[in-house]
Amino acid sequence: MRRKVIAGNWKMNLDHRQGETLARELLGGLNGRKPSVEIIIIPPFTTLPSVLGVVGGTIIGCGAQDLWYEDKGAFTGEISGPMLKSLGCDYVLVGHSERRHIRGEDSELLSRKLRAALRAGLIPIFCVGELLPEREKGKAETVVVEQLRQVLGGLEKEEISRVIIAYEPVWAIGTGKTATPEDASQMHGVIRNFLEELFGSPVSAAAVILYGGSVKPENASRLLAAADVDGALVGGASLQASSFLGIVFPS
Ligand code: 13P
Repeated sequence: MRRKVIAGNWKMNLDHRQGETLARELLGGLNGRKPSVEIIIIPPFTTLPSVLGVVGGTIIGCGAQDLWYEDKGAFTGEISGPMLKSLGCDYVLVGHSERRHIRGEDSELLSRKLRAALRAGLIPIFCVGELLPEREKGKAETVVVEQLRQVLGGLEKEEISRVIIAYEPVWAIGTGKTATPEDASQMHGVIRNFLEELFGSPVSAAAVILYGGSVKPENASRLLAAADVDGALVGGASLQASSFLGIVFPS
């Protein structure tokens, strides 16, 4: 049985006070209930310390949205894996489509970042996903497999076993459009087959693959029930305790 994970990517929202409030609301909202899923929240860098002050040592895990690939040095404005780890983070996003497309991050850079995350003892949540024109041309699977191959290819089995993969079709992010559970399932199957080919069945069977793109309480249950979907990476709906907890505890 694979574990299920619900991760909330706050993106560039909520300053440290607002973030602390949301973290308290989430903990309060759990109200002693034990969710059947692992919960991770991913605030902006400056909000991390106050959020970690609230959720550190609880069942809510915490991650960062990015990292740099060197551990320290003359890299003005960057944040390293060891810095995040020493703060109390356990996870870090790598390759979110907003960084690929707005910041122009390519596979070579993402490959270095992913390895830096592993080196620091962080769990990378590696994001892949196709653009709408790529899907319309029937190239979605090729694009996703290529993104996986360029960054994950060459990892040791022990390393890949620590990576969480998130499939986020770019056309579904922040648009209100979601992949159908069937489409998500199909792509997750492709990702699992890729892992099997490169790393063998035990790695592929144990891999945690999340779906992201307009996940909300109203559509989460069906997406999460789809074969090979092990959880969700949630953007907009993670910014309010009620909607995020509505995904964690589907009614
Ligand atoms: P939305 O849930 O707002 O579509 O964002 C998805 C996402 O990009 C999570 O990383």
